[in-house]
Amino acid sequence: MLIAKDISKTYILNERKGFFIKKKTEINALKKLNLTIKPGSIVGLLGVNGAGKSTTIKILSTILAPTTGSLKVNEVDALKYPVEAKKLLNVITGGERNLYWRLTARENLEYFGALYGLSKKELKDYIPSSLSLVGLKDSNIPVERYSKGMKQRLQIARG
Ligand SMILES: Nc1ncnc2c1ncn2[C@@H]1O[C@H](COP(=O)(O)OP(=O)(O)OP(=O)(O)O)[C@@H](O)[C@H]1O
Ligand SMILES: [Mg+2]
Repeated sequence: MLIAKDISKTYILNERKGFFIKKKTEINALKKLNLTIKPGSIVGLLGVNGAGKSTTIKILSTILAPTTGSLKVNEVDALKYPVEAKKLLNVITGGERNLYWRLTARENLEYFGALYGLSKKELKDYIPSSLSLVGLKDSNIPVERYSKGMKQRLQIARG
């Protein structure tokens, strides 16, 4: 369960003139967002460019701190304990980042799995099943030789 209450985000931009800050500009990207996401549900964010979707995703995944508000992920206060919350979260981006291109698919999953605290024994089971889930084969080919779609599939397996 994810519960966001009254989340606001104001970006502060420092406009410089030479070495000195000339002016501070404030951009109110989010104003009092309230959101509850129940386990097992799929939620989409729709909005025009600049509406605040990416800002919301960054805050909900503890990559960016909100200016005000509270965020709970499975009872964990994600603003106070972001490291604990991160163990319960994962972000899969649409592009080709968040993978090590010189490693194979298996090596990537071993690395990221270890970061999430999975044991070697758990990884031995998880890796073949997550690769087959996304239609990839275990091979010695480095990710740099994958097509974009294959990299995206591997990202889903990583997630
Ligand atoms: N790093 C930043 N510094 C300053 N302002 C920012 C920053 N990131 C986003 N903004 C501003 O915050 C507002 C929300 O931007 P955000 O990127 O969250 O929108 P979005 O809904 O993801 O848009 P898009 O559909 O274009 O991806 C916009 O006004 C944007 O200019
Ligand atoms: Mg965006």
